[in-house]
Amino acid sequence: MAGEFPAGFIWGCATASYQIEGAAFEDGKGESIWDRFSHTPGKVRNGDTGDVACDHYHRYLDDVRLMQDLGLKGYRFSVAWPRVLPRGYGQINRAGLDFYNRLVDALLEAEIEPFATLYHWDLPQALQDRGGWPNRDTAKAFGEYAALMFDELGDRLTNWITLNEPYVVADIGHRQGIHAPGHQSVEECLAAAHHLHVASGLAVQAFRESGRPGQIGITCNLAPIHPASDREEDLAAADRFDQWLNRWWLDPIYRGHYPQDLLGLLENRMPEIEPGDLELAHQPLDFFGLNYYFRQIVSHEPGEWLDTKVEFGPGPKTAFGWEVYPEGYYEIMTRLAREYDVKNLYLTENGCAYADRISEDGEVHDPERIAYLEQHLAQVARALEAGVPVRGYFLWSLMDNFEWAMGYSMRFGIVYTDYETLRRIPKDSAKWYAQVIERNGLP
Ligand code: FCB
Repeated sequence: MAGEFPAGFIWGCATASYQIEGAAFEDGKGESIWDRFSHTPGKVRNGDTGDVACDHYHRYLDDVRLMQDLGLKGYRFSVAWPRVLPRGYGQINRAGLDFYNRLVDALLEAEIEPFATLYHWDLPQALQDRGGWPNRDTAKAFGEYAALMFDELGDRLTNWITLNEPYVVADIGHRQGIHAPGHQSVEECLAAAHHLHVASGLAVQAFRESGRPGQIGITCNLAPIHPASDREEDLAAADRFDQWLNRWWLDPIYRGHYPQDLLGLLENRMPEIEPGDLELAHQPLDFFGLNYYFRQIVSHEPGEWLDTKVEFGPGPKTAFGWEVYPEGYYEIMTRLAREYDVKNLYLTENGCAYADRISEDGEVHDPERIAYLEQHLAQVARALEAGVPVRGYFLWSLMDNFEWAMGYSMRFGIVYTDYETLRRIPKDSAKWYAQVIERNGLP
């Protein structure tokens, strides 16, 4: 199957600022919540921090060359908000802005289309000190920061993503407490979620007002939610969890309201929804960004969050324990086209962690990753054939990097990062991906 992808299809890789940049305290950068969190004992595996990470801040030119060698058509990176605005608003840090200016210029020079995510989780700590995302003011600050970025880079950079995975920010950061800022409060989680909707909307509005050319969208992590059995209560539990993980984002964005049933259950814990908030969330987007990693199996479990128990499926697992379930990719893509009428879809993240190592021959052989990518890209081809308007695919990730609470223990790169020397070694999967790009489709 598969064959060729559409002409102009963007084959890319994705990264995020805190995961690769390093230079965490250099050139006037402000502290982020991930700096604070990773330096708090017990929060990140092995006590790892992003202080140095892949040192991309200093090695970005080499990294762009690496991307060029792979033949990448696009590169999705994120801007570290506190690098640009150390306190989150107000005083601008020119040195920080210059870094992104130089990066964008280098990418354009290499004929790689830049896609910038404005928020990939590294909130300025100064804003966290004022309440972070549960405080509505953070949304306003985000809108202003976004406007600044359109102003500064928007003459050359034309692909913008407001937020990366707001579900993870709200739920894993504020309810589960596994990610920064590490809070465990349903009320804070719901307030964060709502203000993230408002923030994204303010950024979209600022983009339209800027008059800059290009396109803007949002990236969400979505997952097929399958009931553990066809018992009535498992079906209902799966539906509740679908409303939480998927529809809590999709419905406000595409329909202008939260999913009614779940809203009914959570109503007395919700933050204030001001007039106009849902209209902000519901503005037309130029594209939707989908991150896909796995499906979830849900059963009824009284006493747990939403009375649900959420598990991975029975299939093969990656090093992270995530089930490999390529069919779910097709399921989600077709759902977006069918139920939400998504007109332009970018696959902004997909990939896998395996326990890669340098072999005796000095190479990194990662056949499982190649198999994973092949299977997932076959589902992309299938979705294209079914008429889903997929415009590009950004593999997570260009290189091994700081995997949040798991530190450096999870290697997602198609390029191996030797953390001792910071040398980059393209894995077999990188060579394979270069061939896919070259032929614009699967072998
Ligand atoms: C996603 C994140 C990305 C990376 C991958 C593995 O949830 O957006 O930064 O950590 O997972």
